[in-house]
Amino acid sequence: MTDLIAIAIDGPAASGKTAVGRKVAERLGCRFLDTGGAYRAVTLEALRQGVDLDDESKLSELAENIDIELIGGPDGDRLLIAGADVTDDIRSPAVDRAVSQVSAMSGVRAAVVPQQRRIAAQGPIVMVGRDIGTVVLSDSKVKIYMEASAEIRADRRVREMERSGRSLDPMQVLEDIVRRDRIDSEREDSPLKPADDALCIDTDGLDVGQVVERIMRHPGLS
Ligand code: DC
Repeated sequence: MTDLIAIAIDGPAASGKTAVGRKVAERLGCRFLDTGGAYRAVTLEALRQGVDLDDESKLSELAENIDIELIGGPDGDRLLIAGADVTDDIRSPAVDRAVSQVSAMSGVRAAVVPQQRRIAAQGPIVMVGRDIGTVVLSDSKVKIYMEASAEIRADRRVREMERSGRSLDPMQVLEDIVRRDRIDSEREDSPLKPADDALCIDTDGLDVGQVVERIMRHPGLS
């Protein structure tokens, strides 16, 4: 990792970006940031405060002022809002349903993106999200775009939840994923799409380890 500044990994919901990104960061001995956490935190806080999810100016103000902190730990990062641990709450079905709408707002993105760039500027990092290769770290030399069919992603999400003791309706999960994909890729500001210079990896039929190996063979990492 001599002059390497950042690795950008993008892809749709439940494409395995987080599991893969964490492992790549481990292999390279650098930091990891899941950028969806900030949009989820803003959404959770908006739901708690009863903010109208169509009110862009209120949501932008909330995104500007929210006090988010990330604390690394042995079982992954914990996300705090104003000192309170909300790591599990930001993954609730209510946040899942609302987060794409909130993150589509330019005012919200204008508050969140500079914070993510500041974090990246502090040293080598693997960042995962929707607009990392296209916007947040558009100068990155290593850009990855992970694809997988909606059915495979829904199946992975259901199994992942089962492992943590939560049972979800598979059809509902699939519907939610398709809806979020649509909002994330059709929004005007920073839509989900591969950067022109991204290495696209179709992960249907690949496990986390195999995707990590492909990324590690990227010419920018050798
Ligand atoms: O990766 P995730 O499911 O935690 O992301 C939650 C939402 O946040 C997703 O629907 C789109 C948005 N998001 C974004 O717009 N840009 C990012 N870099 C990361 C996430």
